[in-house]
Amino acid sequence: MDPITELLAEVLEEIRPRDAGAPADYIPELASADPDLLAFSVVGPRGRVRSVGDDHAEFTIQSISKPFVLALALAEKGRDAVLGRVGAEPSGEPFNAISLEPVTGRPANPMINAGAIATSALIPGDDVDDRTARIVDMLSAFAGRSLWVDEAVYASESLTGERNRALAHLLKSHAVIDGPVDVAVETYFRQCSLLVTVRDLAVMAATLAFGGVNPVTGRRVVDERVARDVLSIMSSCGMYDYSGEWLLRVGLPAKSGVSGGLMAVAPSQFGVAAFSPRLDTHGNSVRAVALVEEASERFGMHLL
Ligand code: DON
Repeated sequence: MDPITELLAEVLEEIRPRDAGAPADYIPELASADPDLLAFSVVGPRGRVRSVGDDHAEFTIQSISKPFVLALALAEKGRDAVLGRVGAEPSGEPFNAISLEPVTGRPANPMINAGAIATSALIPGDDVDDRTARIVDMLSAFAGRSLWVDEAVYASESLTGERNRALAHLLKSHAVIDGPVDVAVETYFRQCSLLVTVRDLAVMAATLAFGGVNPVTGRRVVDERVARDVLSIMSSCGMYDYSGEWLLRVGLPAKSGVSGGLMAVAPSQFGVAAFSPRLDTHGNSVRAVALVEEASERFGMHLL
């Protein structure tokens, strides 16, 4: 084991006993996740992927898809068009809150559910499959391999996703969404159901860290400006109503998801990802937060 992997393994074992919280159950299929899974991965500038723990366990990307669909929307439409439909302000509210501007109905930011649905609705395409295909291509380019939808999680979320449907109807009532509500919301459910491993998330984070160039494949995925815009919004909004304290403690742009994944970006240095299904009250993984916090401390990654 090389010294960095040894350090990752040491941090992993230090955090392993912190098993508070419970896997998400409002999407029924997520409740069956093995709560003991724990994994950690780091990718550096030369594209070397280091990982420890359950690094081959697959889980659905959930909200960690949001920054990458934002990247696609920014690349396709430009910053002004995106900002016309979704803000860039932290909401200070939970991820599923109705955080819309009173007059315009514009969601506070693209990292909460309402803002992510508005962002997905900006992706061009004739139908759900067409739009999903573009999203899958973009996220696969970030990961450096072809990603797939977990149909069971998708079906489970679609069956129980009335709150997201309600948010989408509100967006439609304010003309924040142009097309049909069900196309926007089903596209969003499919993007959340893409399967990844902690290694994929670390490569995706690293692609943002290195200005939009995937350090494993060497391929430019998005412009440097798009990567910077995405990281800016992750910095202020990526951890929902924990975003401020996260920036204080860890000091890195980051994004979490309800299946227990978390990615963080140390610009020009590392992409970092962690996975463990038990969540805290904000919907962030207890042990993934602890792993990245400890790594930021040990590697001196805090940006400020
Ligand atoms: O829309 C939802 O509720 C889920 N598909 C994603 C939410 C999520 O990951 C929030 N993150 N912690």
